[in-house]
Amino acid sequence: MQLTQPKFQSFTAVAPSNIALLKYWGKRDAKTQWPANDSISMTLSKCKTITTATPSSANFDTFIFDGQSITSETHPDHKIFRHIDRVRKACGSSGYITASSKNTFPSDCGIASSASGFAALTLASVAAFLKTPKWDELSTQGFNRERLAHLARMGSGSAARSLWGGFVKWSAGASATEQQIEQIWPAEHWELADVIVVLSSEPKSMKSSDAHHAAWASPLYTPRLAALPERLSRINRALAEQSFESLGLEIEQEALDMHAVCMTGSPQIQYLTKASLDFLVWLRTERRFGRLPAWATIDAGPNIHLICLKQDCDTVAKAVQRSGFDCSVIVDQIGRGPSIAEGSGELWND
Ligand code: DP6
Repeated sequence: MQLTQPKFQSFTAVAPSNIALLKYWGKRDAKTQWPANDSISMTLSKCKTITTATPSSANFDTFIFDGQSITSETHPDHKIFRHIDRVRKACGSSGYITASSKNTFPSDCGIASSASGFAALTLASVAAFLKTPKWDELSTQGFNRERLAHLARMGSGSAARSLWGGFVKWSAGASATEQQIEQIWPAEHWELADVIVVLSSEPKSMKSSDAHHAAWASPLYTPRLAALPERLSRINRALAEQSFESLGLEIEQEALDMHAVCMTGSPQIQYLTKASLDFLVWLRTERRFGRLPAWATIDAGPNIHLICLKQDCDTVAKAVQRSGFDCSVIVDQIGRGPSIAEGSGELWND
């Protein structure tokens, strides 16, 4: 007698990375992923994670990243499997999945791979557990976009903001349960670009989850938190008025403020390398002489995101390429948010 193979339907989520203009840095509570401050990000377009989740007949989950496979049997405490388990429980499922994932950009070096990674994993696994890729059907089953964002946030905080395109705000609220995540402007509002200067694609020196904890010991951290509400309103105003100079000034100060906290926390964390600092000196000189219409922001890594108007991104990218720095350049721009579809990731091999 021939056994019929069960047919498993695959679901693929494509989730963009996002670059924080106002950084999420420090948690009031790690267990509930309650951030110490509000953050604002711009969703990217080309830097994304593509994850395919397929229900499995095994009694464990499997995660494949760039062809390398691990399972929840061999790595039960891995944050990927803790997240799949969280999603499974939220969906009321008892099944297991195989999730296969790849990034269109280097991982773990300050291009927010955990943001797109956990957003894509959340969406693909919810679709696989609930067996639908349709946003309206997910919403009917209790998973509207904000609920999905909260679920993604539990995997990695910044992932919550990758659930929308354009400019997204994650508000900390007065308690962990009062957090809110919402789009504040769609991508069409203001066509900004992000010219990413990859000075190193080595994994960062310390995972951001550990670095969030180290921030509290910095003498600069309490003053930072006290000053952030005003910075938030200045960034909001710059976005509303599309005032590029004002936005640029704020985001560059904000990134340096976060890195000052990193360097003075316990343990001290040095994400900025000599190359990052040399590059910043070059950028500021070029800008002062009117040759480079771009402002820097830097996440937890040495690489520099040059935020500029979309119309200037080629000029900025060419200037970087001619600068003599040993780097590669990714030219990205504001994007429209994630998508989910039935089928495997081969469909998105662009
Ligand atoms: C510098 O979201 O990676 O990119 O919640 O512990 O996974 P966990 O942290 P993560 O922190 C991101 C920090 C940041 C700033 C930001 O994206 O807001």
